[in-house]
Formats: sequence, structure tokens, C-alpha cells
Amino acid sequence: MKTTISEVYKYVEQEVKIGAWVANKRSSGKIAFLQLRDGTGFIQGVIVKSEVPEEVFQAAKSVTQESSLYVTGKIQKDERSPFGFELLVTGIEVIHAAVDYPITPKEHGTEFLMDNRHLWLRSRRQHAVMKIRNEIIRATYEFYNEQGFAKIDPPILTGSAPEGTSELFHTKYFDEDAYLSQSGQLYMEAAAMALGKVFSFGPTFRAEKSKTRRHLIEFWMIEPEMAFYEHEDSLKVQEEYVSHIVQSVLKNCSLELKTLGRDTSKLGKVKAPFPRITYDEAVKFLHEQGFNDIEWGDDFGAPHETAIAESYDKPVFITHYPTSLKPFYMQPDPNREDVVLCADLIAPEGYGEIIGGSERIHDYDLLKQRLEEHNLDLDAYGWYLELRQYGSVPHSGFGLGLERTVAWISGVEHVRESIPFPRLLNRLYP
Ligand code: 4AD
Ligand code: MG
Repeated sequence: MKTTISEVYKYVEQEVKIGAWVANKRSSGKIAFLQLRDGTGFIQGVIVKSEVPEEVFQAAKSVTQESSLYVTGKIQKDERSPFGFELLVTGIEVIHAAVDYPITPKEHGTEFLMDNRHLWLRSRRQHAVMKIRNEIIRATYEFYNEQGFAKIDPPILTGSAPEGTSELFHTKYFDEDAYLSQSGQLYMEAAAMALGKVFSFGPTFRAEKSKTRRHLIEFWMIEPEMAFYEHEDSLKVQEEYVSHIVQSVLKNCSLELKTLGRDTSKLGKVKAPFPRITYDEAVKFLHEQGFNDIEWGDDFGAPHETAIAESYDKPVFITHYPTSLKPFYMQPDPNREDVVLCADLIAPEGYGEIIGGSERIHDYDLLKQRLEEHNLDLDAYGWYLELRQYGSVPHSGFGLGLERTVAWISGVEHVRESIPFPRLLNRLYP
């Protein structure tokens, strides 16, 4: 019976045929072990010299790393294997014998691995991270579909910039200027006025000259936008959503989390509600902690966010930032003109901001004034402003950065491992 490694539990004590690659191997005079992978999982193949034809044992001994094979054999339960099964091999058919594989079980430097990203993805750890990424995406669609949101796809090529003009990728659009989207938000606001509750999932681009463990040039964002939702309503969606994806990964990716050595007790605590502190309280806290480099009105850097996050075992919302630190579209606090109804969600364990969101200005005159204050072209933003002329309503939304979320839940140090082919400062290859 032809099957995949993920399905072998159905065939215990039965003969199966699996298409696989040789991840690793070792052998002695009497027995050979092949670490097999087929994309769906990993399993150990055992070849006992005295029990198979000589050419099968020789094939197992001589096959090179990453060669592709059809392997036949009997599935057996194996308590010692993390996967729970092994394959007692009876036949090996080499499909393609690989030449010397550059990534060996020894340690390699990061740049070398990044140059070989097209192959590095095959490794057990990278495979586990990609499976967790996939589970987060699956759980995202599940969550928003169950809550009655419609998936809407904003454009990638745009004529306006929601998050400020300094980090835009410029391109020509025939005779016009265009930019790669840095956020779909403005379009999602239009969509929310048409469909009520909407979410997007797509790539976004920022020409940020940041070389940190949290920054990518191309990253994927999930951007929900909700009509008639005020700031507080939006925070509830955010904490329920983040709890849902964390609990889904815990439930459906236990093998992957184990492969990565992730401390799952910390993830187990990630359940709504999440703690909230205001920007004012955060500044006060930082001063108490001895951060004298921060004054009211300054943005927080990675060390500040990490210090705040360390006080909690769940993600923490920092709310009500100074208006001057945030984009033009955020709704001012009705009780205080100098702060806005916004929140950043800071992940535990030093992974930084995973969500940025706010209530949006719905008053026409105030939005027009803000666009002017930010020297934004009223022609380019005309359609966005116009949304406030036809039944304008309070509305809120947010953006979750997928790669930072994957890095945090997987426990990998750097976002470059949380996307299949990272685009980084100085890296567009492979
Ligand atoms: O805080 P940001 O800039 O918010 C927005 O773009 C809003 N328009 C979203 C919205 O309200 N619809 O970005 C949102 C999230 C951040 O919290 C972070 O997780 C991620 O996107 N992010 C990045 N991830 C990787 N590399 C980068 N360079 C990132 N910049 C932002
Ligand atoms: Mg932000």
C-alpha cells in the first residue's frame, strides 16, 4: 500500500511503500538505519542484514544523503521514537542518487545556511517551523470564518502609504508612481463599510534599514477591520484571536514543538484576557526599572518592550500612545487630545510587538486636518477621506505580523527562520 509518513499509523504490522528522501543514515556490519522524510513527517527505516537480500542492505549502506527513494517495508510501533513508529525495510528503489549534499549534520554558520535556504528548508527544525506557520494560517482562517468575518484581498500595488512615507518601495506603474503595499488597512476600512467585519492576509513590504531579529523587508500580515467596533471591542478580538492560534498550535503541532525544544508551559498560559497598561504607565514602569533614556513622547525600543513584557506571562497590550508617535488615521482619546485610542500587543520572551492597531478617525473634518498636518496628498487619499462622507461609523482594526508570531510560538531566535524565503537587508537570494 502506497502511503505517506503522516498516515503510517493506519498500517501497523502491514506492508507499505513510501516515497522519501534520506535525511541521514548510519550503519554497522549487521544493521543500517535510514532517517527518512517525505515532507509529511520523519520516520526511521531499519534494515537488518540477515533479513533482506544482500543488494537491499548494500543500497541502504551506500545511499547518499538526500537521495530520493521508494522504500517498502513493514510499519512497527516503536515507543522510543518521538514519532511512535518505525519502518522495517524490505526493499529500496533509488529514484535519484543525490550528489554531495552541502548541509551535513555538523554545525553550519547562519550565512551559509541562508545561502542554502532552498535546501535548509528540508531540515527537521525548519520543517517544524513551517508546519507551525501553516497551522497559524489555518487557525486564522478558522477563527475569522467562525466569527463571521469575510476574507478580503487588498491590492499590493498602491498609490498611497498608510504607515508613513519613509519606508516605501517605489516602482513605476506605466507612467505613474506606485508603491508596494506596506499595509492593506486603508482598503480594509473601505471593505468594512461594505461587508462589516473583514480580514486580509497578504504580503506587505517595508524598505526598513533595520537589521534586527524582528525585521523583514517582506512580511505577511493579517489585518482585520470591523465596522461599529470601538477600541475596547477590538482589543477583545485581538486577545481571543491570539489565544486561539496559540492553543491551536499546542493542540495540533505537539511533535513540531518538541522537535524545536519549545517550552510549552509558557504557551499554555496564553489565554484571554491579556493584561493592559497605558503608555503613561509603561513610561513610569521603565523609569522605576532604571531606564533613564526614555521620556514621555519617545517611542519604545526593543529593550524597553522586553522589560515590560517580562513582567507578564501573557502578551501585554500597551495602549494610548502619544498622538505624535502614531500614524495620521488614529482616533484621539476623547478625554485627552495628546494620546490616541490604539494598542500595540507585545509578545512574551522578547519577541516584541506582534500587533499594532487602533480605532480609526471617522470624522471627516478631523481626518482631513490630519492628512494636511502630515503633508499627505489629498488627491491620493481622496477616496479614503470620502469613506467619511457616506454613513461614517466608528470602526477599528489591527495588523498581526505573521513572522514575529511564528518566531515567538516556535521559539526560534530570528524572524528569518519563520518565513520560507526571507527578504532581509542585503539578502534577495535564494
Ligand atoms: O504596527 P504596524 O506598522 O501596523 C500597521 O501596519 C497597521 N496599518 C495595521 C492595521 O492596523 N491594519 O505593523 C503591524 C505588525 C507589527 O505589529 C509587526 O508584528 C509586524 O506588523 N511588522 C513587521 N514584521 C516583520 N518585519 C517588519 N519589518 C515589520 N513591521 C511590522
Ligand atoms: Mg507598530
